[in-house]
Amino acid sequence: MSESMERPASTGKSVLDVLTGREPSHRPIWLMRQAGRYLPEYLETRKNAGSFLDLCYAPELAAEVTLQPIRRFSFDAAIIFADILLLPHALGQRLEFLVGEGPVLEPITSGEDFANLSRQRVLEHLNPVFEALKIVRGELADDKTLIGFCGAPWTVATYMIAGKGTPDQRPARAAAYENLPWFGKLIDLLCDVSIDYLCAQIEAGADAVQIFDTWAGILTARQYDSLCIEPTMRIVRGVREKFPDTPIIGFPRGSGVRYEAYVRATKVDGVGLDWAVPLEWAGETLAKHSVLQGNLDPIVLATGGDALDQAIDDIVESLDGRSHIFNLGHGILPDTPIANVERLVDRVRSGA
Ligand code: CP3
Repeated sequence: MSESMERPASTGKSVLDVLTGREPSHRPIWLMRQAGRYLPEYLETRKNAGSFLDLCYAPELAAEVTLQPIRRFSFDAAIIFADILLLPHALGQRLEFLVGEGPVLEPITSGEDFANLSRQRVLEHLNPVFEALKIVRGELADDKTLIGFCGAPWTVATYMIAGKGTPDQRPARAAAYENLPWFGKLIDLLCDVSIDYLCAQIEAGADAVQIFDTWAGILTARQYDSLCIEPTMRIVRGVREKFPDTPIIGFPRGSGVRYEAYVRATKVDGVGLDWAVPLEWAGETLAKHSVLQGNLDPIVLATGGDALDQAIDDIVESLDGRSHIFNLGHGILPDTPIANVERLVDRVRSGA
């Protein structure tokens, strides 16, 4: 068989092509948190929606903000506008987003608090997300990939237990060391509902899904296996049972050398790399198992200038010839100038 016949035919969607071992028409690019506060049109829509949560639960508006960055920058993928904390909300935990402070939840600190969570209405509660996906699916151009997502159980649990974002997630780490029965049950519950949630997003039109484990990097080696790898493996297996062909991207931020164990064990199709990961190492050790996604430092994107050009070129050059999805190493910062994002997209497109 000739080289060109070995690869299946392109789907026409570059992100999906790379994730499924097809030859993409160009090096794809999208950015984590690409819909957000750095865009004036996002701020305008959010103002009209009322609060951030109102925006998440209004399918037409959520679809609109999902599409805004695609219209402006022609990114190769749209990620559905929602939040990883909608899942705890759907389980019955009280949730608010305070402007300038972030999420505030009623913390889960006991077996009793845990027992108040309920799986009964999870998918019904999240129906606006599925409606938004259907709207985006209908409006998105054929060459764009639609990405659904959830938070990984450990990362979601850190917010559920602390009731807010903290610099070190001490409350959840303490709960993990204390190994209280409700803590393990909470992780199990989050695995189960995350599988249902991702499957429902795929049914509603997502081409691929991403699992955000923003707080993977703070786990000890022992905890990393049981709280990052194991739950992710369960989710990957659960989703693949129903949707064997839908690619799954894992983003265990800050995993360092443990990225290798992560990709081997979880068998994710794509892996999101934070900006600290050396790409030569990733190309040699991780790329055998998983497509690489990342890993521009969001700070250099906000700073811009020659440092930005250099950082983009470093990424493109160190992964030359390997399948790669250009992205940031974490979400885009709200004070990022739009001109820098335009410069990034132009440079990746012209060099790729
Ligand atoms: O464009 C996209 O990427 C899709 C939407 C998206 C949001 N949050 C919207 C959002 C996605 C994929 C997320 C993921 C998310 N949410 C994560 C994992 C990735 C990461 O960034 O680490 C986490 C930990 C959360 C929880 C969360 N949501 C926090 C801690 C905060 C407050 C901090 C902040 O950035 O404001 C949010 C709020 C949030 N989620 C905003 C957006 C656009 C800002 C809210 C606003 O408009 O004021």
